Amino acid sequence: MTEYKVTFLPTNQVAWARKGDRLLDVALKAGINLEHVCGGGCSCTTCHVVIKDGFEALENPSEDEFEQLQELGKHLSLTSRLACQTEIDADLTIEIPFSIRII
Ligand code: FES
Repeated sequence: MTEYKVTFLPTNQVAWARKGDRLLDVALKAGINLEHVCGGGCSCTTCHVVIKDGFEALENPSEDEFEQLQELGKHLSLTSRLACQTEIDADLTIEIPFSIRII
């Protein structure tokens, strides 16, 4: 079975995932403290990530995710996604925005 490499910035931590795994689950399983206040229900923006590499390979966000992303305002980037709504289908490089990093 194909495994995909997911690299989390700025720590360069690497996790491995299978097709269809949710990005939030992969991060948490790898010990990365990615916030997820609503529990993965697409009703907050605390799991916001920026896809630095591999964005084109992902499915487009659902209407719900797209609407929730708009709540990010000035923090929204062209490759922003909600980790709880993002299914992995390629090698990815992910940046966890500074505003939500847990140190
Ligand atoms: S955990 Fe709330 S939208 Fe992802």
